[in-house]
Amino acid sequence: MSANVNTFYEAALKYTKSAGELVLEKISLSKNVALKSSEIDLVTETDQQVEKLLIQNLGKDFPDHKFIGEESVAGGSQCTLTDSPTWIIDPIDGTMNFVHTFPHSCISIALFIEKRPEVAIIYNPMLDQLFTAKRGQGAYLNGKKIQVSKETDFKKALVMMEFGTSRDPEKMKAVMANQNILITQVHGLRALGSAALDMAMVALGAADAYFEFGIHIWDFAAGELIVTEAGGVVMDPSGGPVDRFSRRILVANCREIAEQLSKKIVQYHPTPRD
Ligand code: IPD
Repeated sequence: MSANVNTFYEAALKYTKSAGELVLEKISLSKNVALKSSEIDLVTETDQQVEKLLIQNLGKDFPDHKFIGEESVAGGSQCTLTDSPTWIIDPIDGTMNFVHTFPHSCISIALFIEKRPEVAIIYNPMLDQLFTAKRGQGAYLNGKKIQVSKETDFKKALVMMEFGTSRDPEKMKAVMANQNILITQVHGLRALGSAALDMAMVALGAADAYFEFGIHIWDFAAGELIVTEAGGVVMDPSGGPVDRFSRRILVANCREIAEQLSKKIVQYHPTPRD
């Protein structure tokens, strides 16, 4: 299996780098922006081109592999994870940032086999940050091993949380409540505008935790493996194991911080499930 995993990883890396060149070329040009689920849930032609590039090339190399891609699902494809090797792709995570040329967007791609993440890549071509992981082999930034922070004191944690792409009033209420609860209890709150890059910051030890309600499997599939391979924990925000179709996630450098965060935040259950 590990020979195969290396082949899968090398192919994904090659196509992700080509996709990165495309993103870099397009970020400063004017974009055709369309709306998806809300007026702040955006998609551009580049999101679609990147997804096509990755799926076509990986599909040619590995014809029996399946795909879950953000833009394919938006176009009506199934969002189902079976035991078959499945590539889970967010072609541009942080599309809002990409539209505004805010340089924190990335290609996020993970390969799941038997519902377990085996390979993960998060690539921000604007800042040339390449986060990678293979299961059991550690997490890396541009080839250098990375580790989560050693912080265990919740008061000293830097916590990442996002506003999301929905303006549903109940969801907004939970986001605002959580900001209010946390701001006086931790060192600071941050949001990069990309779930995958937020998770990469936890893996890097630059932030201590991240949580979000309302995201999707393609936003966190790669981040999940990169965080755990860097020594961190991934769970449902209410404390149990992560349910990848519940649109909820919490990650942290350690269980103490994850559990404290989980107990303090207002819980929100996005509907529908994926
Ligand atoms: C979004 C980003 C954002 C998060 C949203 C995601 P997209 O992904 O990760 O940070 O708050 O929930 O949907 O739409 O840019 O791929």
